[in-house]
Amino acid sequence: MTKHKIILDTDPGIDDFFAMLLAADAQNLELRGVTAVAGNQVMEKIANNARGIAQLLGWDCPVSLGADRPLLIPQITASQVHGDTGLGNFPLPAPQKDADKRLAWDFIYEEATALDGELEILAIGPLTNLAVAFLRYPDLPQKLRRIVLMGGATEWGNRGAYGEFNFYVDPHAAEIVFASGVPIDMVGLNVTMQTGISDEEFDDIARTVGDSRKVYSELLEFYRNIYCVNDLGFRIVAMHDSLAAAFLTDERVLEMRKAKVQIDCSTGLCRGRSIADFKSESPNARVAVAVDRPRFWDMVMHSLQNAPDVRVQSSASGK
Ligand code: RIB
Ligand code: CA
Repeated sequence: MTKHKIILDTDPGIDDFFAMLLAADAQNLELRGVTAVAGNQVMEKIANNARGIAQLLGWDCPVSLGADRPLLIPQITASQVHGDTGLGNFPLPAPQKDADKRLAWDFIYEEATALDGELEILAIGPLTNLAVAFLRYPDLPQKLRRIVLMGGATEWGNRGAYGEFNFYVDPHAAEIVFASGVPIDMVGLNVTMQTGISDEEFDDIARTVGDSRKVYSELLEFYRNIYCVNDLGFRIVAMHDSLAAAFLTDERVLEMRKAKVQIDCSTGLCRGRSIADFKSESPNARVAVAVDRPRFWDMVMHSLQNAPDVRVQSSASGK
């Protein structure tokens, strides 16, 4: 089986975490590294989560740190959704291995050069690291096979009127990435919001992980409560990032259509909006327009069946 050689660029992030579980469960992904970017939380917490999740999943690849803020505009986070740690109530064991000494954009370039056109990027956070890499290394686009990204939307957004969070945080970075010329597969809210977890599916998850790994269902309960208790405009517990990871491992989960995508970098109601022109004769991306939800959900449940045990550190014993 030919494996996808990937770098995962992420801002973990509850849904990032479940996407990483799904990637770990896939048989056709070769993880070359993880790069962390500020987004759902500040970089200090994102870095800890990225290193800790890689350790939990048994990934010995480099974890490299990147941008702690957007290119041009002030940083915002989604702490009201992902909690103070960025991973809700999950008892993530402390990472033992240091982050790689290389900065994310330098690491991406080195891997892309070494793999000579085979490297793919799975980007599930703001696109600042990739944008810096393209600015710093003008020949990088020719070295990448493609970018699969969770971001954008063909209709309404989840930040402002039309902004999707990853593009809203750093619209300038998103615009640079879509202008790079690298083949892009865009997985936006128009499909990820169809992955909302039903009450019956919450029950299935709890049964699947059982008592020994109930920390996973408890984390999803944390995520559900956030959406149901706070008025975030919608009450859908969506597995946004997992859908992008699922598509990378099995393209049958999504129907894609070519489009010319541009990002609104204004500061008003349309900040971070992705505009997809499906009639363009110069498309720069494939945009997801429909999801095979049963196929996707089977992949999510399979990844949870294989989720690693977590040794919960008791506060008393401290071990
Ligand atoms: O809009 C959803 C995206 O923003 C996801 O990647 C989520 O993790 C947040 O980063
Ligand atoms: Ca994310």
